[in-house]
Amino acid sequence: MKKYVLSVVWLLLVLLSLPPSGGAELLPPPTRQDLGLFDAVFNDFDEQDCRACHGASVSDLHHNLVNSEKLDCLTCHRVEVVNKSYQIIVTTNCLECHEQQPGAASVHHLTGTAQLGDCVACHGALVQNLDDGHYIPTYSATMVTPRPSAGTGAEGRGSCRFCHDWGNDAATGELVFSNMQTHHETGFGGQSDKCAWCHNTQAAQTLAIRACEQCHAPLSIHNIQADTNGDGVITPGGEAPYFGHIGSNEDCLGCHGGAVDPALLSSRNSAIDNPTRHHLLVASKGKKCLDCHKLLLNDDGLFVFKDFRVCSSCHAQGGRR
Ligand code: HEC
Ligand code: HEC
Ligand code: HEC
Ligand code: HEC
Ligand code: HEC
Ligand code: HEC
Ligand code: HEC
Ligand code: HEC
Ligand code: HEC
Ligand code: HEC
Repeated sequence: MKKYVLSVVWLLLVLLSLPPSGGAELLPPPTRQDLGLFDAVFNDFDEQDCRACHGASVSDLHHNLVNSEKLDCLTCHRVEVVNKSYQIIVTTNCLECHEQQPGAASVHHLTGTAQLGDCVACHGALVQNLDDGHYIPTYSATMVTPRPSAGTGAEGRGSCRFCHDWGNDAATGELVFSNMQTHHETGFGGQSDKCAWCHNTQAAQTLAIRACEQCHAPLSIHNIQADTNGDGVITPGGEAPYFGHIGSNEDCLGCHGGAVDPALLSSRNSAIDNPTRHHLLVASKGKKCLDCHKLLLNDDGLFVFKDFRVCSSCHAQGGRR
C-alpha cells in the first residue's frame, strides 16, 4: 500500500511526460517535473492539503488499523457523556494528531520511518537507503566526477545544480526550490545529528558528491529517466535530452561534463592515466560517453554499466577497436 501511492503518481506523470511534438528543447534549470515529487518545500500543510493527497475521507484508512495494528477506538477517540448517553468524539483535523513544525519540518519527515533514514519506504527506487550496503565508488576524483553544485564545465555543466535549481516550472508556473531548500526544509536541515547523512565536511570539494551518493549512488542515479518517444522502453542515448539522466549524451554531460584541463589536451604525455586518456577523446574527437560506456539491463531490470575496466571488453586483441 505504501509504495503504491507514489508509484501510481509516478506512472501517471510518466504518461504525461511525452515531449511536445516539434517543440523547442527546454533548457534547465529548473528541470521538468514529470518524475518523482514536485521539487518544493512541504512543511506548511493544512487539513485540506492533507486530504488532497490522502482522500476526502480518512475513516477507512484509520479504522483498518483497528484490526491490522490492533488499535483501540480510544487510541484516537475520546468518549464523553452527552445528554446522558455515551458519545464518541471525532477529531478530524489531522494536525491535532500528526505533528508538523510549520516552516521547519514536514509531517512525513517527523515520522519514525523517516527519522530512521528509511527514505525508500516512501520515495521508492528513485533513491537508495543510507545503510543498505550499496556501491559507492572509492577511486580518486577525475575530470568526469560530478559535483553537487558549481560545475566547472560549460554553463556550469558537471553538477546536479546545472539542471536542478530554483526557478518557475515551465508547465505549471509553480516555483521549483533549490536543492538545499528541498532537502533542508524537510526538517533534516535543522537536526544537527543528521548533517552527515548528506554532507562530509572532511571531503575535498572534488569528492563532495560521494556524501550525496549515500542516497543517490550510480545504481539509482542512472535509472531515472522518462520514456520520451512513447515506445514503452527507455533507450539510453535514444531519448530527448533533459527528461532524466540517461536519455541523451547531453544528460551525461550535465553531471559529468566538468572542465577539461587545456594543458592535458595539448600534451602528448604518455604518462597520462588510462581514464584521462580516454576522456580527453570527448573534447578532442567528439566521442560520446555512451560510445564507450554501455548501459545494460541486469536481472532486476535496472541499468548497470558493462565492465569498462578491462581493455579487451572494448579493444580487440592487437589493440584495434
Ligand atoms: C542534465 C540535467 C540533470 C542533471 C545535471 C541532474 N539531473 Fe536529476 N533529473 C533530471 C531530470 C530531467 C529529472 C526528471 C525530473 C522530473 O521529471 O521530475 C531528474 C530527476 C531526478 C531525481 C528524481 C526525483 C525528482 O525529483 O524528479 C533525482 C533523485 C535526481 N534527479 C537527482 C539528481 C542528482 C543527485 C544530481 C547530481 C548528481 C542530478 N539529479 C543531476 C535532470 C538532471
Ligand atoms: C503530496 C501528497 C501528500 C500530502 C499533501 C500529504 N501526504 Fe501524507 N503521505 C503521502 C505519501 C505519498 C505517503 C507515503 C505512502 C503512504 O503511506 O500512503 C504519505 C504518508 C503519510 C503517513 C504515514 C507515515 C508512515 O510512517 O508511514 C502519514 C501519517 C501522513 N502521510 C500524514 C499526512 C498529513 C497529516 C498530511 C497533512 C499535514 C499529509 N500526510 C499530506 C502523500 C501526501
Ligand atoms: C488510528 C486512529 C483511529 C482509530 C483507532 C479509530 N478511529 Fe474513528 N476516526 C478516526 C479519524 C481520523 C476519523 C475522522 C475521519 C475523517 O475526518 O475523514 C474517525 C472518524 C470516526 C467516526 C465518524 C464517522 C466516520 O466514519 O467518519 C466514528 C463514528 C468513529 N471514527 C468511530 C470509531 C470507532 C467505534 C473506533 C473503534 C472501533 C474507531 N473509530 C477507531 C481515527 C480513528
Ligand atoms: C484523532 C487522531 C488522528 C487524526 C485526527 C488523524 N489521524 Fe492519522 N493516524 C492517527 C494514528 C494514531 C495513526 C496510527 C499511528 C501512526 O501511524 O502515526 C494514524 C495513521 C495515519 C496514516 C498511516 C496509515 C497506515 O496505513 O499506516 C495516515 C496516512 C494518516 N494517519 C493520515 C491522516 C490524515 C491525512 C488525517 C487528516 C485528514 C489524519 N490522519 C487524521 C491519528 C489521527
Ligand atoms: C512517510 C513517508 C516518507 C518518508 C519515510 C520520507 N519521505 Fe520525503 N517526502 C514524502 C512526501 C509525502 C513528500 C512530499 C510532501 C512532504 O514533503 O511532506 C516528501 C518530500 C521530500 C522531499 C522534497 C521533495 C523533492 O522532490 O525534493 C525531499 C528532499 C525528501 N522528501 C527527502 C527525504 C529523505 C532524505 C528521506 C529519508 C531520510 C525521506 N524523504 C523519507 C514522504 C516521505
Ligand atoms: C537530507 C540531506 C541533507 C541534510 C540532512 C543536510 N543537508 Fe545541507 N544541503 C543538502 C543539499 C542537497 C544541499 C545543496 C548542495 C549544493 O547545491 O551544493 C545542502 C547545502 C548545504 C549548505 C550550503 C553549502 C554547500 O555545501 O553548498 C550548508 C552550509 C549545509 N547544507 C549545511 C548543513 C548542516 C549544518 C546540516 C545539519 C544541521 C545539513 N546541511 C543537513 C542536503 C542536506
Ligand atoms: C538521506 C538521503 C539523501 C541524501 C544523502 C541526499 N538526498 Fe537528494 N534526495 C533525496 C530524496 C528522498 C529526494 C526526493 C526524491 C523524490 O522526488 O521522490 C531527493 C532528491 C534530490 C534531487 C532531485 C530534485 C529534488 O529536490 O527532488 C536532487 C538534485 C538531489 N536530491 C541532490 C542531492 C545532493 C546534491 C545531495 C548531497 C549534497 C543529496 N541530494 C543528498 C534523498 C537524499
Ligand atoms: C544525475 C547525474 C548523473 C548523470 C546524468 C549521469 N551520471 Fe554517471 N555517475 C554519476 C555519479 C554521481 C557517479 C559516481 C561518481 C563518483 O563517485 O566518482 C557516476 C558514475 C558513472 C560511471 C562509473 C560507474 C562505476 O561503476 O564506478 C560511469 C561509467 C558513468 N557514470 C557514466 C555515465 C553516462 C554514460 C551517463 C549518460 C548516459 C551518465 N553517467 C549520466 C552521476 C550521473
Ligand atoms: C573513448 C572511450 C571513453 C569515452 C568516450 C568515455 N569513457 Fe569513461 N572510461 C573509459 C575507460 C576505458 C575507463 C576506465 C579506464 C581504466 O580503468 O583504466 C573509463 C572510466 C570512467 C569512469 C570511472 C572513473 C575513473 O577515473 O576510472 C567514469 C565515471 C566515466 N568513465 C564516465 C564517463 C563519462 C561520463 C563520459 C562522457 C563524458 C565518458 N566516461 C566517456 C572510456 C571512455
Ligand atoms: C570502455 C571501452 C574501452 C576500454 C575498456 C578501453 N578502451 Fe581504449 N579506447 C576505447 C575507444 C572507443 C578508443 C578510441 C578509438 C578511436 O579513436 O576511435 C580508445 C582509445 C585508446 C587509445 C588511443 C588513445 C588516443 O589518445 O587516441 C589507447 C592507447 C587505448 N585506448 C588503450 C587502452 C588500454 C591500455 C585499455 C585497458 C587498460 C583500454 N584502452 C580500455 C575504448 C576503450
